[in-house]
Amino acid sequence: DKGDFEHFMIKEIFAGPKALRQTLNGRIKDNKIIFSGLNFEIKNINKIFIAGCGTAYHAGLVGRKAIEELTGLQVEIDLASEFAYRRVLWQAGDLLIVISQSGETADTLAALYKAKQAGIPVLAILNVPGSTMARWADAVIYTQAGPEISIASTKVYLTQLMALYLLALYLAQERGTLSEAELNTYIKSITTIDQKVEKALALQPTVKEIAGYYRDTDNAFFLGRGYDYPVAMEGALKLKETSYVHAEAYAAGELKHGSIALLNGDVLVIGLVSQDALAEKTMSNIDEIKSRGAQTIVICKESLQKYCQEYEKVIIIPDTEPWLAPLVTVVPLQLFAYYMAVFRGTEVDNPRHLTKAVTVE
Ligand code: F6R
Repeated sequence: DKGDFEHFMIKEIFAGPKALRQTLNGRIKDNKIIFSGLNFEIKNINKIFIAGCGTAYHAGLVGRKAIEELTGLQVEIDLASEFAYRRVLWQAGDLLIVISQSGETADTLAALYKAKQAGIPVLAILNVPGSTMARWADAVIYTQAGPEISIASTKVYLTQLMALYLLALYLAQERGTLSEAELNTYIKSITTIDQKVEKALALQPTVKEIAGYYRDTDNAFFLGRGYDYPVAMEGALKLKETSYVHAEAYAAGELKHGSIALLNGDVLVIGLVSQDALAEKTMSNIDEIKSRGAQTIVICKESLQKYCQEYEKVIIIPDTEPWLAPLVTVVPLQLFAYYMAVFRGTEVDNPRHLTKAVTVE
């Protein structure tokens, strides 16, 4: 049931904050993270591998950064379809985390089986209960987003990030890599982040107007540094699959190493600026692009506004700590992909050639 919404995709984008609260529900008590059912010794883990496909992979990229920053554990991440067929140098103390909305994706299952065969424990971050991955994994963290009908994943991406943030904090707590005060600060910001997501959703009319303006664009580049880069990847994927606009994501510093040659007045560049320590560098990359004549939209954190004053199309998002910014920056990108699809008349909830769970390798 779509309720008052025209499509499931927009309904599910707006369900993001509630989904986040459901992921948090029961997992924080007295300023402690609780994960019942993680039945392997988290304290003895030496290294983490992450595998997933598409949007789940993009969530994993953010998760890797958070886990490395908060726990000092080494994390490797692969596309599941690549991980399954490369030589992995397993060692005692390794853990594989697979991320999947459906729990049925063939490539991700192949990654899971590979670890099981090597005797490596697998933790699965899943949305659908009772799925194949749920049966094979040693432990499951459910994202609790509720059913996701639209083929393009939106609310579940938010909850995958939340599950990974919680896991990062849990590992930090159990391994003692953060002080109690630090941990409390992190926990406080994670329990109020849904309000920032709500605020970002209020940008709907602005994003709709901008999408209307750029509806005929055929090429879009999404740029970001640090935590903004995986979000740029997710924004590009969302735009491609829903509106069929060709889109690429680049690390903001990488474009000048070749791809900048593609830029002209017909290209739309969407820059993400949510990382305090990297904002100046990203903006200098975006300035460079603007001077090559490309059209630009800047998605900028409130406190970093001074960097994008000279830009006409700026979407101001609420302030967040850098590590949590992906939960907020992705919202205007999801809305942008949605409205581009609507304006271009595609089948928003059922894009061509796609299915909700890809069960072939
Ligand atoms: C994009 C999308 C896909 C899936 C990918 C993995 O919007 O939905 O990229 O994220 O096919 O699917 P799951 O998470 O079910 O393993």
